Amino acid sequence: MNSNYIAFEGIDGSGKTSLIENLSTILDSQNKKHIIVREPGGTSVGEGIRELLLSHDYQVNPLAEALLMSASRAQLIQETVIPTINNGQVVVTDRSAYSSVAYQGVGRGLGYQEIYQLNDLAIDGFWPEKVILLDIDPKISLSRQKIADRIGSGEVDFFQKVRSGYLKLADEFESQFLVLNATKSIDENVNSICNWLEIDNT
Ligand code: TYD
Repeated sequence: MNSNYIAFEGIDGSGKTSLIENLSTILDSQNKKHIIVREPGGTSVGEGIRELLLSHDYQVNPLAEALLMSASRAQLIQETVIPTINNGQVVVTDRSAYSSVAYQGVGRGLGYQEIYQLNDLAIDGFWPEKVILLDIDPKISLSRQKIADRIGSGEVDFFQKVRSGYLKLADEFESQFLVLNATKSIDENVNSICNWLEIDNT
């Protein structure tokens, strides 16, 4: 395995969760110690922030949204991610700072570079080593979604922008990103992930 800090990214309804569960089962079968975390959230402070961010009860201004996302992330990185990796375990994360660049930077229009820099500060440069991006047309992913949170219930136009933000990141950080077609079968995508991360899945 060639990475200790792996992120899954993609627009709402892209199917990150099933792939993370599949990868976790494979890592367990190989006794590869790992934890799964999610953003926003993943710590008790972060889960409190998550509630503020995703509840339909609050209207959150875009800049406040970006700052709360990065606050949750700053806590997670220091409290969990860095200690776990230093302890020799793998961290698999359901979203990361790259979500903020795509959602708040490009989707909300706060600026790709600005939100990249804000997050670089929040995580002290500790970006995921490998990113699996599940790429999908928002018209398809939104129709797959069962219950949408406040951000996930945005318009198709918003998700088109988020998708373009993700594709720009994948282009800029080509060697760190694996872009998968999220409409392919889970088995096919799990195989691609294992090959790319050099995990023996035979
Ligand atoms: P998540 O729980 O992954 O939702 P889903 O499983 O539906 O994809 O993420 C929650 C929402 O928060 C999702 O709409 C994406 C959004 N989000 C951002 O806008 N910026 C961020 O930095 C993060 C981590 C999430």
